[in-house]
Amino acid sequence: MPGDHLGTSAVAHPNIALIKYWGKRDELLKLPVADSLSMTLDLFPTTTTVRLAPGGVADNVTLDGVAAEGERRQRVVAFLDLVREMAGRVEPATVVTRNSVPTGAGLASSASGFAALAVAAAGAYGLDLDPTALSRLARRGSGSAARSIFGGFAIWYAGQGTGTAADLASYAEPVDVPGFDPALVIAVVNAGPKAVSSGAAMRRTVETSPLYRAWAESSRADLADMRVALRRGDLDAVGAIAERNALGMHATMLAARPAVRYLSPATVTVLDSVLSLRAAGIAAYATMDAGPNVKVLCHRADRERVAETLRAAVPDCSVFTARRGPGARLSAGADR
Ligand code: DP6
Repeated sequence: MPGDHLGTSAVAHPNIALIKYWGKRDELLKLPVADSLSMTLDLFPTTTTVRLAPGGVADNVTLDGVAAEGERRQRVVAFLDLVREMAGRVEPATVVTRNSVPTGAGLASSASGFAALAVAAAGAYGLDLDPTALSRLARRGSGSAARSIFGGFAIWYAGQGTGTAADLASYAEPVDVPGFDPALVIAVVNAGPKAVSSGAAMRRTVETSPLYRAWAESSRADLADMRVALRRGDLDAVGAIAERNALGMHATMLAARPAVRYLSPATVTVLDSVLSLRAAGIAAYATMDAGPNVKVLCHRADRERVAETLRAAVPDCSVFTARRGPGARLSAGADR
């Protein structure tokens, strides 16, 4: 129940971008350079409870049973400050978050995390926000979280310019493709935390990579092609566009100075097996985020075959099979 003594809880799922968000034009407002488009998953939910602590001195943040400190805590506190400012409130809060995906493994726990926090914190502080406003709010925590407010496929608009008008124009909305229900087979080749955060890596890429502008430009064209492919429910086209967009994003990072390289030998092994699946007539297409893990888009009927092929290629990897999942919503608690 919003605002009761047990707090307000929300659940959200990660999303995987088929057209990537890579690069901000405004760091504070988290305004991206280009539009992006994703699929929200049915796996790895994050559940977050926000309980107001009137009379408390500071926010108390617990992530997966451990008191958050340093930058991780500060990110949550800054987000709560924004919510308090919007609500005209001052009370600190206790935040308890449970992830079901390894944090920092390139599986977008910041997307599900800040989407869940946006819904729970808005409820706890009595802000009545529609999904568009929740998406804008989630964006301020982590850009990709703007898309996890919605289930299925979602497009996040970059908007234009700077300041308040730009803030209002940058939010996600659902892309309605009722008949399109592919599988996303996820090969976790390394679940450890990443050496460079996605925020730092994208900043370095924008500032130093000579390939960045060209990719951002081609990403706009990819997005237009992707919308057509989705509307047609054409998995081969969706997959091919997603794969080229992701490889291009990684190319921009490899050209950054110094280079950012998330892809490992095991990543390349998985990419080779995706090529061999295609050579065998299976529609399978890869995408990678800020980490070495590979997500393979395929028809649901092929998901076992794809999962077995990836397991055989990298025997010590963990394989999960996702499909499109729900948007962020209020829920029963994280800690009860
Ligand atoms: C590679 O949303 O984690 O997953 O806005 O700095 O929090 P911040 O970045 P974040 O970046 C995600 C980048 C990506 C691509 C994507 O999800 O579109």
